[in-house]
Amino acid sequence: MHERFKYRTREDLLLKAGELGFELPWSDDMTPLFQPFNFPVFSVANRFVVQPMEGYDSGNDGSPSDLSKRRYLRYASGGSGIIWFEAVSVVREGRSNPHQLWIHKKNSDAFSRLNEEVRKNAVKTGIDPFLVVQLTHSGRYSRPDGKAKPQVAALNPLLDKMPPVILTDDDLKRIIDRFVEASMLAYKAGFNAVDIKACHGYLVVDLLSAKARMNSNFGGNETSRRFRFLLETIDRIKDEVPEIGVTTRLSISDLYRGGFGVDENGGADFSEPLLLADQLKSRGINLVNITMGSPYFNPQVSRPYDNPLPGQVLPEEHPLEGVMRMINGTSLFQRRFPEIAMVGSAWSFLRHYAPHVGAAVIKNGDAVFMGFGRNSFAYPSMPLDLMKNGEADPRKTCITCSGCTRLIRNLRPGGCVIRDREIYGNELKKLIADGK
Ligand SMILES: Cc1cc2nc3c(=O)[nH]c(=O)nc-3n(C[C@H](O)[C@H](O)[C@H](O)COP(=O)(O)O)c2cc1C
Repeated sequence: MHERFKYRTREDLLLKAGELGFELPWSDDMTPLFQPFNFPVFSVANRFVVQPMEGYDSGNDGSPSDLSKRRYLRYASGGSGIIWFEAVSVVREGRSNPHQLWIHKKNSDAFSRLNEEVRKNAVKTGIDPFLVVQLTHSGRYSRPDGKAKPQVAALNPLLDKMPPVILTDDDLKRIIDRFVEASMLAYKAGFNAVDIKACHGYLVVDLLSAKARMNSNFGGNETSRRFRFLLETIDRIKDEVPEIGVTTRLSISDLYRGGFGVDENGGADFSEPLLLADQLKSRGINLVNITMGSPYFNPQVSRPYDNPLPGQVLPEEHPLEGVMRMINGTSLFQRRFPEIAMVGSAWSFLRHYAPHVGAAVIKNGDAVFMGFGRNSFAYPSMPLDLMKNGEADPRKTCITCSGCTRLIRNLRPGGCVIRDREIYGNELKKLIADGK
């Protein structure tokens, strides 16, 4: 049964996990989180990752605004080894909203300037962060002008709220060109790597599961066709922009009928995602960010929470079950592919206990990195606090209230309404005053 977070001590938390039938990993020793990790071309200072989090605050042309810059400078000052920039669209029509970052020839300088400032700010922490940018097309969830304009690989009656545009193979080839072009611009802008986003219901994961897409080189029963968009994009980037690293944020199970990594009933079936991971490995991909679920269909899967969005019903499952599902899923992939450093997701529900759980997960070889999403909005300096004090401050952590998501779903700039109240608490007040 769902329950809000109410665990005053570590014992309370571990007891609850036990009642739910599992053992939550735990370590008092935080050193695994502060071990550097060496990729062939870059040494990452520690195991903390700022997860990609859309801020809905770009200029109309997709450039980072002062508010976007503020978010990234907060991250840079916080001490995470990897800053994984949010979903940045590669085409205007694939933006999730009119203020989604979008990289193109006319504004890539603005990303360069942002990265310079990010690195300058990070110097004060003694860390040179590894900068990844998540490139995307929002597919079914495109709203380039604020209104839904779904563009899909194939119909899915469970998800389609209005008749979508089905992208043609030629459309998809053009979109691959844009991913490659965006990767070149990202390289010139100073990013270390690009992530071809393949999760959370957007276009690339939609293609991975597009069995219903007939007579196409990018869909149907065979995995070789469904995997083509992602793998061809990766191959072309490696070929045409060899200087930049390539990674993917991968849904290892969408957990809805017709999604990727599921059986006929929508339950997890990892066989195809494992096959895909093997093909990533054979291409030399050495970093993958693991996630599951769709924020639009089963939000408790990708981000276990205390409060649902207004109007949504509380899920049946306990948020700790969501946390554990992600730990176990990541572990399965990490153990099967030790050559790939996996980033584990969905820790914010654990508040200040999260680093203890993550340290154990990393020590046990069940992930290499710990990625924080909502907690990075709330408490970007958690890594530095941990380094200085050995513990995170419970008064600063995310409380999984869904306020940040509520803002962006209403096309407002996203951030923490509780811990970064001056800006985002006020945004929420305005939203409530507007009756939303
Ligand atoms: C407001 C908001 C924006 C998000 N934007 C992105 C995004 O741009 N790309 C992405 O892969 N995930 C995105 N996510 C998911 C987070 O990266 C993360 O997986 C999720 O919040 C669970 O981690 P957490 O428990 O640390 O918050 C977003 C989540 C929220 C709440």
